[in-house]
Amino acid sequence: MQKVQLGKSDLEISPIVFGAWAIGGWAWGGNDDQLALAAIKKSFDLGVTSIDTAPIYGYGHSENLVGKAIKELGRENVEILTKFGINWKTKKGEFYFNAEGNGESYEVYAYAGRDGIIQEVEDSLKRLGTDYIDLYQIHRPDATTRIEETMEVLKELQQQGKIRAIGMSNHTVKMMKKAEKVIDLASTQSPYSMVYRKIEKDIVPFCQEDGVGILAYSPLQRGLLTGKITSDYEFKGDDHRADNKFFKEPNRSRTNEFLQKIKPIADEHGVTLAQLVINWTVQRPGITAALVGARNADQASENAKSMSFELSQEEIAIINSELEKVVIDHNA
Ligand SMILES: NC(=O)c1ccc[n+]([C@@H]2O[C@H](COP(=O)([O-])OP(=O)(O)OC[C@H]3O[C@@H](n4cnc5c(N)ncnc54)[C@H](OP(=O)(O)O)[C@@H]3O)[C@@H](O)[C@H]2O)c1
Repeated sequence: MQKVQLGKSDLEISPIVFGAWAIGGWAWGGNDDQLALAAIKKSFDLGVTSIDTAPIYGYGHSENLVGKAIKELGRENVEILTKFGINWKTKKGEFYFNAEGNGESYEVYAYAGRDGIIQEVEDSLKRLGTDYIDLYQIHRPDATTRIEETMEVLKELQQQGKIRAIGMSNHTVKMMKKAEKVIDLASTQSPYSMVYRKIEKDIVPFCQEDGVGILAYSPLQRGLLTGKITSDYEFKGDDHRADNKFFKEPNRSRTNEFLQKIKPIADEHGVTLAQLVINWTVQRPGITAALVGARNADQASENAKSMSFELSQEEIAIINSELEKVVIDHNA
C-alpha cells in the first residue's frame, strides 16, 4: 500500500489506518485481546502501518494493546497516532460524561490544559512502550483552555522529540486557524462516511486550501455501511450503537436500501460492500486516509484490501447520485 504524506508534515502514513477504538472494548460491548492483536498484525501484514488510538479507548486498554502489538511489529515500522484531552484522572476542564469500564466507574473531563497534557503524554508513552508518538492529537475541544495554551505545550513536546507531528480532532475551522498561529497543524480527524458528509461544507475546503491532512473517522459508519446491520440486528452490552441515530429507523433501512443499489459496483470488482465504501472514502477530495476499526483478523484483512482496485469516474458518479437520494433523519 502506497503511503501518503500527512498534510505538510514529514509524516507518511498508510491511506488505511487501523482504528483501535473498538478493540479497547469500552462502548463497543467488550472485546477479545487475542482477536484484537491478530487484527492489528493482519492489517500490518497487508500494508496498514498506521494505528490510531486514544487513552479513553478502554481507559488505557487500547493503547496497551497497541503497545503489545508494536513490540512484535517493530516500533520503527509503525506510525502511532494517539490523542489527549479526554481525561479521567482530573476534575479540571469541562465535565464530559460518567462511564463504566474495566469494572470501574469513571468521571470523564475534556481537559487540554498544560498539566493534563504533560500527565497524559507520559501515560501514553508508557502504555505504548515507546519514547515518541508520531501524531499527537487533541481529541475534542475544551472550552476552559485557550487553544493557544494547548498548542504551546504541544510545540514544546515536539521540540523535546516526544511527538513528531500535531493534529486536532472534532474542532472547527475557526479553532484550527487559532492553533495554526502557534504550531504547524498536520491534520484533523473528523467523522466522515458516505452517509455523513457534513465536513464537505467547511472543513474539507479549508484543509485543502491550507494543506492540512484529513483523517476520516468512522468511514463504515461504525459497521452500518458493511450491509450486515439487518433490521433484526441487535447490539450487546454497552455497545453505543444501540442508541446511535444511524442505526435507528428509518436510517437503518434507508442505508441498507442504498447499499443494495451500489452492490452491483462492488460485485463488478469482486469486492465487498465494506471495501467499496472504504475505497470511495479514501478517494474523496481532501481526504488523506480513512481510520477503519476492526475487531478481528477477518475484518482487518477485508478492510486492508480496500485499496486493491480503482473506481472509475462513471462508477463514482453512480454512487454519488444514489447517495443524493439517501435522506438521513438526524432526529431519529
Ligand atoms: N476522533 C474521534 O473523536 C473519533 C471518533 C470515532 C472514531 N475515531 C477513530 O476512527 C476509527 C474508526 O472509526 P469507528 O471504529 O468508530 O468506526 P468504523 O471504522 O466505521 O467501524 C468499525 C466497526 O465496524 C465493524 N466492522 C469493521 N470492518 C468490518 C468488516 N469488514 N465487516 C463487518 N464489520 C466490520 C466492527 O464492529 P463490529 O464487528 O462490532 O460490528 C468495527 O469495530 C476508530 O477506531 C478511532 O480510531 C475517532
